[in-house]
Amino acid sequence: MPVPTIDAPPGLEGVVVAETAIGDVRGDEGFYHYRGHPAPRLAESRAFEDVWHLLHVGDLPTRAEGDGFRRHVGSMRRLPADLVPLLRAAAVAGGDLPALVWLRSLVSLTAQHAGLTPWLGRDAEAVADEALHLVAAMPTLVGLGWRTRNGLAELDPDPGRGVAADLLAMLHGTEPHPIAVRALERYLVLTIDHGFNASTLAARVLTSTGADLGSGMVAAMGALSGPLHGGAPVHALRMLEAIGSPERAWPWIEGSLDRGERLMGFGHRVYRTEDPRSVVLRSVAEEFTDPIVALAIEVEGVALAALQRRHPQRPLRTNVEYYAGVVLHLCGIPSELFPAVFAVSRSVGWAAHMVEQASANRLIRPASRYVGTPRVGT
Ligand code: ACO
Repeated sequence: MPVPTIDAPPGLEGVVVAETAIGDVRGDEGFYHYRGHPAPRLAESRAFEDVWHLLHVGDLPTRAEGDGFRRHVGSMRRLPADLVPLLRAAAVAGGDLPALVWLRSLVSLTAQHAGLTPWLGRDAEAVADEALHLVAAMPTLVGLGWRTRNGLAELDPDPGRGVAADLLAMLHGTEPHPIAVRALERYLVLTIDHGFNASTLAARVLTSTGADLGSGMVAAMGALSGPLHGGAPVHALRMLEAIGSPERAWPWIEGSLDRGERLMGFGHRVYRTEDPRSVVLRSVAEEFTDPIVALAIEVEGVALAALQRRHPQRPLRTNVEYYAGVVLHLCGIPSELFPAVFAVSRSVGWAAHMVEQASANRLIRPASRYVGTPRVGT
């Protein structure tokens, strides 16, 4: 009996393709959560590692469990010495490339060096541990890749630090400022997971074949590297730099919209309210005394008014990427690394989804409708 086919809309918009207990996005309510815990509240109250524990283990840790988990994953940040020369070589191959291009090579090499093999038929705990190792290596790989590309020696991780502090330290080689650490940490918590976005789905599709988790991470990073997925914070920051001062906001925004351009950091496929991540990141930005914050708030007001006037039927509000660019910039992250830093936090979500997919797997293999030349000959 042939399996009946169902036509899904382009882009699979609104199609439920799996069940998950990891998190949910409710676009009409302006709400999203991780395992039932509102993500903005977690960002305000919890360390990144605590939320990682929530996704990996299934619940928020006690203080003692949290300390133990933080030490455990902190120790996993160190890379094997014989892998480092390979990583240095891969980091600089190809010249001037987007960060996710070289970072995905470093992740692939790390997975290969660790001997990761297809998960199918193997012990679930061992597979989950591989996921933890891959995620733990991410900040070190970002630091090594970026410093190598800039002619600097890489810096060792410090397992005593949290991910946010250690990432900043491994980039800059100085003790990070506590305001920057907490700001970055909240950004990282806010961006761990967000429904069945393209990179998460890519990770699950790869995992459904039984392939090793390194392949799933690389697939997810490839998806994230697409301009329609992970690239907007840089463009939002560039827009603010181009506007330069509050009095230029109105003519700049109007001119851009008149030319049919899209304002980066506004609009969302799922949210019809303000993006809850943007609410938190705006208040994070306001903790810094830097003129770019006042400029961003001014430009946001002008942009929202212009979008409302031009699209009265379609709520177009500020999305996560607008203030993400500002916050990452204020934390001292070079703009070319914004997507790589996004991958550091989102890898926690990818890993949880890969482990979940492996725990109740069915090969993801949809159908297509042939619209080419009709059958030729017999
Ligand atoms: N600036 C100007 N106009 C916009 C914007 C924007 N940022 N977003 C949507 N519109 C307009 C469209 O031109 C369209 O107008 P029309 O009906 O006259 O043709 C209308 O609003 C509806 O747009 P859609 O494309 O249907 O909206 P969709 O939900 O598909 O797009 C998207 C969502 C891709 C995020 C869009 O809002 C956009 O391009 N924003 C700018 C890029 C951006 O900020 N991306 C980051 C998104 S958040 C994330 O990915 C984590």
